[in-house]
Amino acid sequence: MTRLGILLSGRGSNFLAIAHAIHDGRLPDVEIAVVLSNFADAPGLAAARDLGLPAIAVPANGRKRAEHDAEFIAHLLEHQVDLVCLAGYMRLISPAFVRAFPQRILNIHPSLLPAFPGLDAQGQALDYGVAISGCTVHFVDEQLDHGAIILQRSVPVLADDTPETLSARILEQEHLAYAEGIARVLSGRYIFEGRRYRPKHAD
Ligand code: GRF
Repeated sequence: MTRLGILLSGRGSNFLAIAHAIHDGRLPDVEIAVVLSNFADAPGLAAARDLGLPAIAVPANGRKRAEHDAEFIAHLLEHQVDLVCLAGYMRLISPAFVRAFPQRILNIHPSLLPAFPGLDAQGQALDYGVAISGCTVHFVDEQLDHGAIILQRSVPVLADDTPETLSARILEQEHLAYAEGIARVLSGRYIFEGRRYRPKHAD
């Protein structure tokens, strides 16, 4: 069994999409070991409890990032997590956190990186005037929204889009992309060429 640790800050729809993918067999031999949040009132944490999963809040208010992250790392180790999935976790993680799980932390971002990293990626895409946007599943490194790209899915940007309508169109793709990205990583069938993720096909 591969044990996932999920980090979230809010709604948790990507976490639930991963849970559904496990439930319907798209992620065989995978289980969610623990769900962690920096906000005690994150709806995603309540959803995890409803599913009977360990759900732990580690509020970050006023604490140094390294100290806060050390507590996260301790929970992840205690729950014997193999792969960490950031799912709407709206806080930078520390270098020590990245080093504690080398090439074992994934993130999903609602743009076609490297375009529009950071907050409000969908609003940034609209303001810039792109015709296509989408989402990216990538490894987490020490820079924001920067690590090797595992997969991307695109969506059109329509003339009458608002940040809300574009976000909803991208979110549908996020929910498919994250489970697929996790499956690719867990297959182990990839190599890195520089920062480039290359799938390896079975012989
Ligand atoms: C998603 O758009 C994700 O890509 C971004 O934050 C949002 C989180 O949504 N990082 P949810 O909490 O998974 O519903």
